[in-house]
Amino acid sequence: MNMVAIILAAGKGTRMKSELPKVLHCVGGKPMVEHVVRAARQAGADKEVVIIGHGAEAVRQQLGEQVEFAVQEPQLGTGHAVMQAEDTLRTFNGTVLVLCGDTPLLDGEELAKFVARHKQSGASASVLTTYLDNPFGYGRIIRDRNNNVHGIVEEKDATEVQKKIKEINTGIYCMECPEMFIILKRLSNDNAQGEYYLTDVIGKLKEAGKKVGAVVTQDRDMVLGINSRRQLAEAEGVLRQRILNKWMDAGVTIMDPGSTFIEADVEIGNDTIIRPFTWLEGNTKIGRNCEIGPNSRLTNVEVGDGTHLQFIYAHDCRVGQDVTAGPFVHLRPDTEIGDKVKIGNFIEVKNSRVGTGSKLPHLSYIGDTDMGSGVNVGCGSIMVNYDGKQKHRTKVGNDVFIGCNSNLVAPVELGDGSFVAAGSTITKNVPAEALGVGRAKQTNIEGWAKKYFED
Ligand code: UD1
Ligand code: CA
Repeated sequence: MNMVAIILAAGKGTRMKSELPKVLHCVGGKPMVEHVVRAARQAGADKEVVIIGHGAEAVRQQLGEQVEFAVQEPQLGTGHAVMQAEDTLRTFNGTVLVLCGDTPLLDGEELAKFVARHKQSGASASVLTTYLDNPFGYGRIIRDRNNNVHGIVEEKDATEVQKKIKEINTGIYCMECPEMFIILKRLSNDNAQGEYYLTDVIGKLKEAGKKVGAVVTQDRDMVLGINSRRQLAEAEGVLRQRILNKWMDAGVTIMDPGSTFIEADVEIGNDTIIRPFTWLEGNTKIGRNCEIGPNSRLTNVEVGDGTHLQFIYAHDCRVGQDVTAGPFVHLRPDTEIGDKVKIGNFIEVKNSRVGTGSKLPHLSYIGDTDMGSGVNVGCGSIMVNYDGKQKHRTKVGNDVFIGCNSNLVAPVELGDGSFVAAGSTITKNVPAEALGVGRAKQTNIEGWAKKYFED
């Protein structure tokens, strides 16, 4: 194994004032720690050891089997956190990339460059640093007269002069194993926070006559460590802009980046136009030549090429090619809308399949329904799927015509090419090519109205 990443994710994140472990707060729709795991992989890590403690079970569940875990209990500081990986890495001889679980904007390529620089330098440890106009809260890099790194001092332990230093510790390090674990045992917690600081490894190695290095990155965004909700919002803004830029560069038109929210795992085909006030979330995949929005929210939705959706909320469902839908449409989970389907206004579809070219133009509820192709659903028609105890399915064949304001009381089946008269309440199956009429016969009483109003 060439390189292992250790990801620190055991801290409480007191400053977040949250019940949720800090590293599970989302940026771009994904828990921060997942962004960090992804960056570690992009940087070439063969294995990730995530240090968990506060909210350990929740973090373990979120990440699952893609990584290894080491538990830090109690949490006595970042140095103490890294020590917990010793058992897991007992036989490992090589470079460890240490990352914090609260830095969601890490860039894998930039990390890979850092690792390469560290390896070339032959140092026992390297720290990634950057310069910030407002370095408040970060550890400061102390350099000697020859400009070599001498150590790192935390904000809370810094003198007034040290606080003016603008070069900060990003919290990202490369260290060599097994030497790192030997040095970690020499750390003390004699500091303002009474913690074992990982940052002290640099000074300790230096004291032991070892070579330590610092690599400066210009990418200030990527090192943004999230300690508060304000920083969380800041990271969200940076990531959002990056994602928007990526899709614009890939040939997607985003009419108003200021009102468009696209999460990290979304995919969009080129020549698609995203109109204002649109949210694309989760594993949403949009095809080419689509028009999405305005005012649409798609969560885990697959959309085929050439589809136009406006004023729509869709989640956990699939929409085919060349579909038009909206305004004011709700597509609920486990729904599959076939190609060339036309969905008009005020339509809800839930747990249903709608076949190719079918039309649902206005004011309908389609629930628990298997609908064929070429069906016309008249205005105001409702699939009556719930009897107060259980849900039942409705089956509609191909080329069925459902007249306006019909109720299909499930379980019920309409055969291919059948016709339901407008205003029917259908409780019995309608055979193929038959007419189903389920309404009271009309009676006209001559002169009745005239008399009524004259009285
Ligand atoms: C740390 C660095 C600081 C650096 C900053 C960059 C130390 C002492 N300080 O400060 O120099 O500028 O990151 O963002 O390392 N954690 C554990 N166990 C613990 C304590 C923390 O796993 O006992 C984890 C946290 O979950 C977090 C990470 O380590 O993901 C960093 O801890 P945090 O308390 O945020 O450190 P900072 O004060 O930001
Ligand atoms: Ca931090």
